[in-house]
Amino acid sequence: KRIRLAVIPGDGIGTEVVEAGLRIINHLAEASNGKFEFESDFFPWGCEYYLEHGKMMEEGGVERLRGYDAIYFGAVGFPGVPDHVSLWGLRLAICQGFDQWANIRPIEFLPGVPRRLNHPDVDSLNWVLIRENSEGEYSGIGGRNFSGRGLGKEVAVQSALFTEHGCERIIRYAFDLARTRKRKKVTSITKSNAQQYGMVLWDEVFSRVSKDYPDVETDQWLVDAAAAQFVLKPEELEVVVASNLFADILSDLGSALAGSLGLAASANINPEGNTPSMFESVHGSAPDIAGQGISNPIGAIGSAALMLDHLGLNEEAELINKAIAETTRQGILTRDLGGTYNTDEITDSIIENLSKV
Ligand code: NAI
Ligand code: MG
Repeated sequence: KRIRLAVIPGDGIGTEVVEAGLRIINHLAEASNGKFEFESDFFPWGCEYYLEHGKMMEEGGVERLRGYDAIYFGAVGFPGVPDHVSLWGLRLAICQGFDQWANIRPIEFLPGVPRRLNHPDVDSLNWVLIRENSEGEYSGIGGRNFSGRGLGKEVAVQSALFTEHGCERIIRYAFDLARTRKRKKVTSITKSNAQQYGMVLWDEVFSRVSKDYPDVETDQWLVDAAAAQFVLKPEELEVVVASNLFADILSDLGSALAGSLGLAASANINPEGNTPSMFESVHGSAPDIAGQGISNPIGAIGSAALMLDHLGLNEEAELINKAIAETTRQGILTRDLGGTYNTDEITDSIIENLSKV
């Protein structure tokens, strides 16, 4: 099996963690005795590219990615380029261009990682956030500078788009996933008391779809209460489905509770499978630590595991996750987790553990 990857390291620590992830895949491919090979093409898009060319990627860039089996992405964003420009110009352009409408964000509580949650049974926690990835608050509908307003009186409108089709497909995705898991529970998170149109539609679709899954337990929270419940009743959560903005915020909260933003992996999936899916760590480009070689590569390496799993290499994916857990269990941790090891050392250790677990 030959896998063709499009690699977009992007900015800041994106480049460091992608390199770590590729080292892992490379090692597995070499050790696979020909079971799988992979080739990667690099696309040097991001903020540096923007400063040189005035855009985040080349003209027709999304189209150039179409023929690949998957896209492996670092992070974008760097001081000097407005964040909305870098995000919309690259990551959101790809997600929306390829209709990667499901963003899957597993949150694992790894052994050996200092706990930020005071909970008697932390090791048993295991969440998957399912983020609606094509519409909602990130649909880009709105505008600024409405005419007739003077200086200091500008009005900006930012609308959220919720379609019945969009809600239904992501909610069904969450239920289908929940069915494959031990607990079989889906928690839906909205703010339908204050957001009376789109989020009420979401709630209605949720209760309609839930009738097709009588074997799956359901729960519904408002997002403000949900933020508290993540801390106070984490054991209530398993599969969590939420809108683009809410799941974005809650996945940073969730991964911080599990230890660090640097741990969280993510998959932007086009479930129809007619366009490539994109795999990336949840965190951003972290300008505060970029270039020092100290970033935590586990989120990006976990994303490589999600990618291999998506491409049918399930055993290899499982191996990566076991090796990650073995490394953290041994106390080999980066600084964000209170350790002293750098990016390369963590990656070396995970590679070493690949052949031990
Ligand atoms: P961030 O995730 O880059 O960093 C937040 C904090 O977490 C920082 O203190 C950072 O050092 C730490 N951190 C993040 N990942 C880490 C890792 N792997 N190892 C160790 N520490 C880690 O979020 P921030 O600072 O809000 O944004 C920085 C830039 O990244 C901005 O330009 C933003 O727009 C962009 N961004 C891009 C994303 C993407 O490309 N998917 C996602 C989120 C932010
Ligand atoms: Mg985010």
